[in-house]
Amino acid sequence: MAGLLFLFFIFFALHIISSSATTNFNVLSYGAKPNGVTDSTKAFLDAWAAACGSTDSTMIYMPKGRYLLGSMVFTGSCKSPDITIRIDGTLVAPGDYRILGQAANWLSFEGVAGVSIVGGALDAKGSPLWACKAKGNNCPSGATSLSFTNSNNIKIKGLLSLNSQMFHIVINGCQNVNVERISVIADGNSPNTDGIHVQLSSNIVIMNSKIKTGDDCISIGPGTQNLWIEGVKCGPGHGISIGSLAKDLQEEGVQNVTVTKTVLADTQNGFGIKSWARPSNGFVQRVRFIGAIMQNVQNPILIDQHYCPHNLNCPDQVSGVKISDIVYQGIRGTSATAIAINFDCSSKYPCSGISLQNVNLTYSNQAAQSLCANVLGKTIGLVQPHGCL
Ligand SMILES: *[C@@H]1O[C@H](CO)[C@@H](O)[C@H](O)[C@H]1NC(C)=O
Ligand SMILES: *[C@@H]1O[C@H](CO)[C@@H](O)[C@H](O)[C@H]1NC(C)=O
Repeated sequence: MAGLLFLFFIFFALHIISSSATTNFNVLSYGAKPNGVTDSTKAFLDAWAAACGSTDSTMIYMPKGRYLLGSMVFTGSCKSPDITIRIDGTLVAPGDYRILGQAANWLSFEGVAGVSIVGGALDAKGSPLWACKAKGNNCPSGATSLSFTNSNNIKIKGLLSLNSQMFHIVINGCQNVNVERISVIADGNSPNTDGIHVQLSSNIVIMNSKIKTGDDCISIGPGTQNLWIEGVKCGPGHGISIGSLAKDLQEEGVQNVTVTKTVLADTQNGFGIKSWARPSNGFVQRVRFIGAIMQNVQNPILIDQHYCPHNLNCPDQVSGVKISDIVYQGIRGTSATAIAINFDCSSKYPCSGISLQNVNLTYSNQAAQSLCANVLGKTIGLVQPHGCL
């Protein structure tokens, strides 16, 4: 009994210690105005500086309302071991797209550790920039809405990202990143508005999220390792894509990617692996696409190693990227074109270890077709369209 009481006491004491050690920083105390028209950039940066400089666990709180914000860099390293950014409001970009348009990022976290973003909405107001690009006028390239660079132990949970000028979320040079229950919404015709882009990063989890956009749902760039994607719904957009690779001669490979329980609806590609038709030392290995529903997807399963838009800088070349050990398992639904499976690999380095298991893709209620070039692999169980492997 005495032992139990003692344990109880310890728990109680720990509870007090842990709850009293979080220090709160409310952006309103730093002069932010939740009225959507007063520029609150300085207030947000001041709140960040205060939290970052604290030795406690900290919370930066953004209450309900709309906060007008320009381009901001939140820089580490911080003294605070963990910083939770709790957003109950909406962060709003300036109405004139040229203000953010020149910046690489809208909200950028660089060299931070233990940062969590919980809740909130980002309204980047990207559509005037997309319209400018559609006219082909001299437009700025646009800002990524939320970017993490060279950072560790990051969480993004329950965030809504609207109408980014460029990519919605970028994870670059990071370890241990957890993205959960986020939504991305942008027009199906918006250019370069990838939902989440990952590169040069490892141990990344993206779960239970919905991404509607004009470009890739999730794009996976060179140097991505141990990426787990689960329960993501994509569409409209370009689907889940590894690449484009072989942009550079010297390039880090992509390895150990799992994509499970996804739904792709009305997307251009389902699961794509793309490389430029150019020399490169890059590679893609150990990728698992397990359990997916495709609805009206133009290219449900695609490997394209002949990417060479406008035939510039790559005519008559072949891709140096080596693709191996790729499993497609339990994928069913409908293709919007007759070719549901298309493996178009490098003639110099054929794709190897490609496995199709229990795949059933139909086209207008008929059997779809598959195409194979320079690919080695096998089919297991029922595979429809009948594999060319
Ligand atoms: C592959 O990545 C998963 C996480 O996505 C990890 O649990 C597993 O250990 C990794 N496997 C290898 C062989 O690195
Ligand atoms: C493949 O899918 C079609 C359309 O959903 C369905 O009618 C057919 O029975 C499925 N084939 C098998 C063997 O499951």
